[in-house]
Amino acid sequence: MLKLVVGVLGLTFVNAPISVAQQGIDPVLYEQGQQLYQENCALCHQDSGVGDPPRFPALSGNDQLGDPARIVRSIHSGRRRMPPFPRLTAEEISSLANYVRNAWANDFGGVSTGDVAAVLEGLGETGPMTSIWDGVYTEAQATVGQAVYSGACGICHGRRLNGAPEDPDMRSTPPLARARFLRVWDGRSLATLFEYTRATMPEDNPSSLTDQEYVDVIAHMLTVGGMPAGDDELQPDPRSLARVVIRPQP
Ligand code: HEC
Ligand code: HEC
Repeated sequence: MLKLVVGVLGLTFVNAPISVAQQGIDPVLYEQGQQLYQENCALCHQDSGVGDPPRFPALSGNDQLGDPARIVRSIHSGRRRMPPFPRLTAEEISSLANYVRNAWANDFGGVSTGDVAAVLEGLGETGPMTSIWDGVYTEAQATVGQAVYSGACGICHGRRLNGAPEDPDMRSTPPLARARFLRVWDGRSLATLFEYTRATMPEDNPSSLTDQEYVDVIAHMLTVGGMPAGDDELQPDPRSLARVVIRPQP
């Protein structure tokens, strides 16, 4: 119904872009959504919403955004290779939905936080959140990951994970451990790291490792970064990886 009304308005103002306020979209939610989008989503879908198809779909001009419940489910529970974001509250997901539905050239109209909360209620509990400092991988796993890293990543990201290749003629790459890495990745989850890395790396042969090898490499990255090992292996399961948040040293 809401969409229909907005559609009619859109026709009326077809030559003059309607401002967020005119569409009945809460500008505070929209602005919060923009901020959350930059922190959590732009890595894959890009600031401009064009994504990086086919690996990361465009959200700009994406007709799937017409269904608010589907957006809520995708964000909270993930969708195939889209990582879940179980720690985002109903209000945060509502802001994100208001933003992606109306940013760029999109014109899908507002979503209320009450409607988002109702969809979330049907999706169930997700378990407690932890951080990379809570012993989320094993030492043995990191050792296996080191061998995978040497074969598949070290040539570009450097033996010390500092982004400096051994070959001085090769261009430098982003660091994968320590302060600079943590600053860039602060607040994201290991599910985002896993899905992003699996889809894009090794840069010259993306998606060429097994899921197990990708999490083993992440265990190696954590060990080099100084995060303690624990009793349980990191599992190649986006739902459990989504509950482990990347944070600077506590
Ligand atoms: C690691 C990369 C990655 C990140 C980060 C990411 N996405 Fe996605 N997203 C994907 C992929 C991959 C798909 C395609 C999923 C599929 O196969 O249907 C997708 C699909 C979507 C869809 C469309 C789903 C549909 O209905 O077909 C929406 C909406 C979406 N993402 C929103 C977001 C929002 C909002 C965020 C931030 C909270 C986000 N994404 C963060 C990778 C990502
Ligand atoms: C052929 C060189 C090459 C190889 C091999 C490679 N990478 Fe990369 N990697 C890059 C480049 C270049 C970037 C920067 C990409 C960009 O910014 O678009 C990058 C970016 C990344 C990022 C994002 C870092 C950030 O902060 O933006 C991660 C994580 C990553 N690589 C992990 C890996 C892992 C894990 C492997 C091994 C499985 C790997 N890479 C293998 C070249 C490589």
